[in-house]
Amino acid sequence: MSPFLLTRQLPEDATEAALRADVLQGLTRTPKTLPPKWFYDAHGSELFEQITELPEYYPTRAEREILITRADDIAAATHARTLVELGSGSSEKTRYVIDALTELHTYVPVDVSESALSQAGHALIEERTGLDVHALIADFTGGLTLPDTPGPRLVAFLGGTIGNLLPAERAAFLARVRALMAPGDALLLGTDLVKDEKVLVRAYDDAAGVTAAFNKNVLTVVNRELGADFDPGAFDHVALWDADNEWIEMRLRARTAQTVKVPALDLAVDFAAGEELHTEVSAKFRKEGVRAELSAAGLDLAHWWTDGEGRFALSLSVAR
Ligand code: AVJ
Repeated sequence: MSPFLLTRQLPEDATEAALRADVLQGLTRTPKTLPPKWFYDAHGSELFEQITELPEYYPTRAEREILITRADDIAAATHARTLVELGSGSSEKTRYVIDALTELHTYVPVDVSESALSQAGHALIEERTGLDVHALIADFTGGLTLPDTPGPRLVAFLGGTIGNLLPAERAAFLARVRALMAPGDALLLGTDLVKDEKVLVRAYDDAAGVTAAFNKNVLTVVNRELGADFDPGAFDHVALWDADNEWIEMRLRARTAQTVKVPALDLAVDFAAGEELHTEVSAKFRKEGVRAELSAAGLDLAHWWTDGEGRFALSLSVAR
């Protein structure tokens, strides 16, 4: 009996079909839009890792600080025997929680990247003998079926990635997460907080240009996967703060009028000079807003922890 299981809940061709649908829809609507999940091919994931180490990009360090200082509180509040992590990636920050959860029986990392799951899973079972790891290759924004493991369950969704969803999408997502839980189970949610506009914009428009390269990488992904002929150099990286919606937006602004062909979709897309392709929304939160959104999904806010500078929050909420 192996303590490491990997289950695919994503058809082999689902990613390709979803990309085609997103690109067709996104490039034929106004404003043109591509969803942020397509940033993360191998190169994009590497660029994101670099972003997390930039001096301007504070969320990763702030969240790590909270996880380190609050891991024991999280363990005491949940006594989790199963930890489900949505979008687990390398599971790097989650290790602090895993180490503190002395009663943990099974860790269920969920990610679309099989290589990340396999790497993180094997490392974990070597270090923590007795821990079962049941990794799921799945898209956490879609339907998920969890393995039958002992409760109580703790579901973790870290990094502030919930900010990539629009409010209506967040409501639907949180309701689906709640449906994975029994009353008394807990959700550990990372949310970046509203703060000074300059600090926010700098975090998404760093001096070294890593975020610009990350943003343009989505064009490279579409080129490779769908045979498109985007010239990443013909677009400028844009990061702006939308004060009404309290979110950061990333866009790619066409430097000149141009036509881009997407052969796999039999599509030619005209860009006007200065036209902006919307690539990411990264919402920033306030405590009362998070409490209300959780509550609407049947989750009661129980703990709210921030880093020392109050930049980022981890909330622990309990299913009612
Ligand atoms: C991984 C979605 C949390 O929104 O801050 C980093 C992605 N985009 N820099 C974020 C990102 C630009 C990041 N999340």
